Amino acid sequence: MAVTTIEGINFNLTEEHLAVQEAARDFAQNELLPGVIDRDREEKFPTEQVKMMGELGFMGMMVSEEYGGGGMDTISYVIAMEEISKIDASASVIMSVNNSLVCWGLETFGSEEQKKKYLPRLAKGEVIGAFCLSEPEAGSDATSQHTTAEDKGDHYLLNGTKNWITNGNSSEICLVIAQTNAEAKHRGINCLIVEKGLDGFVVGKKEEKMGIRASDTHSLMFSDVKVPKENRIGDDGFGFKFAMTTLNGGRIGIAAQALGIAAGAYELALKYSKERKTFGKPISEHQAIQFKLADMRTRIEAARLLVYRAARMKDEGKDIVEAAAMAKLYASDVAMWATTEAVQIHGGYGYVKEYHVERLMRDAKITQIYEGTSEIQKLVIAREILK
Ligand code: CAA
Repeated sequence: MAVTTIEGINFNLTEEHLAVQEAARDFAQNELLPGVIDRDREEKFPTEQVKMMGELGFMGMMVSEEYGGGGMDTISYVIAMEEISKIDASASVIMSVNNSLVCWGLETFGSEEQKKKYLPRLAKGEVIGAFCLSEPEAGSDATSQHTTAEDKGDHYLLNGTKNWITNGNSSEICLVIAQTNAEAKHRGINCLIVEKGLDGFVVGKKEEKMGIRASDTHSLMFSDVKVPKENRIGDDGFGFKFAMTTLNGGRIGIAAQALGIAAGAYELALKYSKERKTFGKPISEHQAIQFKLADMRTRIEAARLLVYRAARMKDEGKDIVEAAAMAKLYASDVAMWATTEAVQIHGGYGYVKEYHVERLMRDAKITQIYEGTSEIQKLVIAREILK
């Protein structure tokens, strides 16, 4: 059953899209679901599962086949993200950063040598990538980069600290944004491909998080790290534009993650409401619960429309700045709201770990924060309206 088609609107879902959906759903059910509660409790990175995601093609879905990827469209990617996020949002953020921020950024803006060198292993999940923009004093205000990449002729000397880096410990290839020419402000920023193991590159403390606890979020420290000049992506000063453009696509991935979290919570709440009896009948027969289910389904479908629309626009090469921000803003609010409703429908059972919805509620919160807070998405949308 093609549950993620949107009735009445032709998103041209093909047999391939439906096959991706089935493969992602099977993988999530069979490989992610069994240990998801323990990995969340123990903050255990899903090493085996990520390896399998690479083998199944989920780590480099949109990378061209010539660089070892799946050569798929963004619709396929959001379909897979939704299915995997229904079960395990920790696994899906690892996947999302690798696909949208690292692989897409490298393939779109990297040199031929960079693509040949890095993409095949990233696309197959043999190594994982990280996107290093945020700093202790540069979260929303991303132009305020304190990390410096001093131009030393044939290399850059990298110094500074990055914070809240998804895949911070597990990654081997990091895209690091740093200031080369402070006078030029955001036009003096570069993006460097920095490999783990370079002298002076240290993985800092692991964050203990409210949600997505099985993903590894770390600070990264750079102290006089020598990065070869050929590791710069694009022309001198292109780094901020690189980060912003790449994040537009990343926001579609996180919107799909939020959609999946909401849909996963809804499916659990629906099932539970048919099984659980109060006052002599299933709670799904109480109007109070019916209203909640109807509202959840309606808002999730609306979120899905925005996510698919943004993905389709990206595939058509259209400007996605506003569409991606709208999808992320709306879907992440729906995720937070729908997971809270799902906990409410479950009552006391919803507050304990065994029933999954409490984890989904904790996981939902981050979708309103990373890859630009909800407030940043509103700012982006307002700028597009007013420009
Ligand atoms: N797409 C393309 N270009 C963009 C852009 C966008 N969405 N937003 C800004 N730009 C460009 C502008 O065109 C401008 O370029 P020019 O000067 O060459 O014309 C340049 O960037 C500077 O733009 P602004 O003057 O608008 O910059 P600003 O400082 O006023 O605001 C901002 C920019 C929108 C607030 C931006 O800083 C922003 O998006 N902040 C949020 C950062 C963010 O999303 N961080 C997420 C961290 S990564 C992460 O979370 C990954 C993970 O672990 C899961």
